[in-house]
Amino acid sequence: MSKVVLVTGASSGIGKSIASLLTNKGYKVYGTSRNPNKTGFDFEILPLDVTNRDSIQNCIQLIIEKEKRLDILVNNAGMGITGPIEDTPTEEMKRVFNTNFFGAIDVIKEVLPHMRNHKRGQIINITSIAGYMGLPYRGIYSATKGAFELAMEALRMEVKEFGVTVVNLAPGDVATNIAAGRYHTPVFDNSAYKENYQANLELMNAHVDTGLSPDIMAKKVYKILQKKNPKVHYKVGGFMEKFSIVLKRILPDKMYEKLLMSHYKL
Ligand SMILES: NC(=O)c1ccc[n+]([C@@H]2O[C@H](COP(=O)([O-])OP(=O)(O)OC[C@H]3O[C@@H](n4cnc5c(N)ncnc54)[C@H](OP(=O)(O)O)[C@@H]3O)[C@@H](O)[C@H]2O)c1
Repeated sequence: MSKVVLVTGASSGIGKSIASLLTNKGYKVYGTSRNPNKTGFDFEILPLDVTNRDSIQNCIQLIIEKEKRLDILVNNAGMGITGPIEDTPTEEMKRVFNTNFFGAIDVIKEVLPHMRNHKRGQIINITSIAGYMGLPYRGIYSATKGAFELAMEALRMEVKEFGVTVVNLAPGDVATNIAAGRYHTPVFDNSAYKENYQANLELMNAHVDTGLSPDIMAKKVYKILQKKNPKVHYKVGGFMEKFSIVLKRILPDKMYEKLLMSHYKL
């Protein structure tokens, strides 16, 4: 019997690649979008807004009614935010936390009872290498993903006894629509950060455009699903992106900060 998978945020980018590859590998895949009228997918698309509890409940209920179970959740839906922290509207910060942190956790809360009933399940969270350090002008995004990683480390220990595995998969820059879907704090004319932020916005968008193919993330998810005893954390990215996590562990804080600032030309 094919395993039943839910991939949140499967209308584009990483989620779409994951959902397509798993479909090709024989899984029964349900992808989601806030706009399920979008077409051209080789898997079924269900409506889902992770910031709306009713929408989450309806989505999971639909799958359970049809399949009687849900084996795998790829918790991928998310959005970005850029801006100097001082200039970023707090409401926008909350919106990103509601999506990347609370929304992703609300999806987990809805699938866990079904996984516990079946005494097995796999949850793969798409986090971010940006969650391992505070990146200038992306501090709030880093915070959503870093906070989510920590909560998931805890969840993994809590649900182990029920046969449920939790894995965090952190990508570096991947060439997707994320820059278009991000909330960009405007570059205000009177902002104290105007020049540095403007220069960094261009740098960030260029990094995404030259990022890895989302298919590499899909292959990694498939590989993780084959493992009997998966690790807590996986990272996919360029050498320096992954190495920057190691450097943060071993370098004195101020030396690491200097490296980051020079990378972002600050
Ligand atoms: N691209 C990168 O460089 C990168 C790096 C690190 C981590 N990530 C993470 O990877 C994940 C996928 O991002 P991506 O790069 O593939 O970006 P993307 O192409 O913009 O895709 C984002 C997906 O999330 C969905 N989504 C956004 N807000 C949602 C909400 N409130 N409820 C439900 N679905 C929502 C979108 O679906 P609809 O708009 O159709 O609803 C879309 O399918 C995100 O969690 C992101 O933070 C990306």
